[in-house]
Amino acid sequence: MTHVVTDNCINCKYTDCIDVCPVDCFREGPNFLVIDPEECIDCAVCVTECPANAIFHEEDLPKNMINFIEINKQLSKKFKNITRSKNPLPDADKWNGVEDKIKYLKQK
Ligand code: F3S
Repeated sequence: MTHVVTDNCINCKYTDCIDVCPVDCFREGPNFLVIDPEECIDCAVCVTECPANAIFHEEDLPKNMINFIEINKQLSKKFKNITRSKNPLPDADKWNGVEDKIKYLKQK
C-alpha cells in the first residue's frame, strides 16, 4: 500500500509534504511531485500538510484519480529525490483547484 500524489499538485508543487515525510519518499519533476511506492510507509502525515489536498491513500483515491497510482510508480523511477521544501511554483495559488491539470504534467 502507498500514498499517491494526484492532479492538483500539478503546477502548484507547494512542497509542504516534503518536510514531514520520515522516509524521504518524494520525487520531484518540473511541475509535479510523486511518491515512490517502494519507499512510502503509509504514515499519512503528508496528507493533511498539502495545501492543495493532492495526496491520498491509494484506497481512498477518487475514481477519476486511479491512474495516478501508475503515474506515481513510473515517474518515481525517473524523477529525482527531494528532501527539503522549497518555494511553490510562482502561480501555485492560481492553479490550486483547477481541474484536469494532467495535460500540463511535465515529465522532464
Ligand atoms: Fe504537491 Fe501538495 Fe506536496 S501540492 S508538492 S503534494 S504539498
